[in-house]
Amino acid sequence: MLKKPEKKELVDAYKRHINYLRISITDRCNLRCIYCSPGKRFKKMPHESILSYEEILRLTKVGMDLGITKVRVTGGEPFVRKGCCEFLEKLIGMKGLSDISLTTNGVLLKHHLARLHKIGILRLNISLDTLDPAKYKEITGINAFNRVWEAIISALEMGFSPVKINVVALRGINEDELKKLAELTFSMPVHVRFIEQMPFGGGSGRNGPSLAAPEIRRRIETIGPLLPVSRQKNDGPARRYRFEGAPGEIGLITAVSQHFCKECNRLRLTADGRIRTCLLSNKTTDIKTLLRSGTTDEELAEVFLAAVADKPRRHHICDGGPGDLSRMVSIGG
Ligand code: 5AD
Ligand code: SF4
Repeated sequence: MLKKPEKKELVDAYKRHINYLRISITDRCNLRCIYCSPGKRFKKMPHESILSYEEILRLTKVGMDLGITKVRVTGGEPFVRKGCCEFLEKLIGMKGLSDISLTTNGVLLKHHLARLHKIGILRLNISLDTLDPAKYKEITGINAFNRVWEAIISALEMGFSPVKINVVALRGINEDELKKLAELTFSMPVHVRFIEQMPFGGGSGRNGPSLAAPEIRRRIETIGPLLPVSRQKNDGPARRYRFEGAPGEIGLITAVSQHFCKECNRLRLTADGRIRTCLLSNKTTDIKTLLRSGTTDEELAEVFLAAVADKPRRHHICDGGPGDLSRMVSIGG
């Protein structure tokens, strides 16, 4: 009797099961955050090198057949690409994904909330590093604080959940506001997540060494003790806490000081069709060339499997590893 072929899954050399795909649909962004594209002119990816939505959907399906169950759509800024909502709708329509979420800077979000709600994308991560409109302009280059803030309020009113606010802790820039940002969790059911600044695009260092999690924690614990929230199955790398009596949550993402590589279950697809197995390594695998050569899904699956087999064990930032990685804008967070 013929033996049924073994189902192939994305498992790396360190036995990590990869079930989470982060898809960057564009390298374009309407902001110029200092920690992401720090004042440098950068080359945009040429249009023809950007994957079409159909191509992305095909690769996602190949990934799903290998065990991907969770997808996050990122950019650049996803909403600067035309047809983003239609794409999200098709992604949902593919069935079989248990979790689809979106990371956005929130500038264009308000116009899209009703549609997102309708298609059932209720999980949002919104980047906001300050509550001060002038400082927002200083950090992002654009005067758009009010637009982002209004989008957050509307999203909460419409029942999006969770609404996560990503705060990159920036020494000398927003360190005096971390407490105030944490206090939002008393007045709103948001998750405020503090992220250690990572060394992208050579942008770190200009404001001194990153604020490490213990220092961030010390600052926000002047409010009161952080009570741990028990971890759940689909939790990412954030350590979760809340303040007594607060409806919202606090997250600490120790990307630099205490890497969480051992639990890493993710894979990234860049807007120009490369698989990136580690956010903090510049190594990528081209899948677009094969995809555009009229290949089979089986062959595409082999590219995924080979890339994952080669996933680095961990990053080396904390021990002085690569200090000038590609910009976040081309990787998608
Ligand atoms: N360090 C840490 N987080 C960063 N992000 C972008 N650049 C950096 C960096 N250098 C975050 C943004 C956004 C997400 C996509 O990644 O705040 O929330
Ligand atoms: Fe800022 Fe995100 Fe745009 Fe980078 S991609 S400039 S972090 S909003």
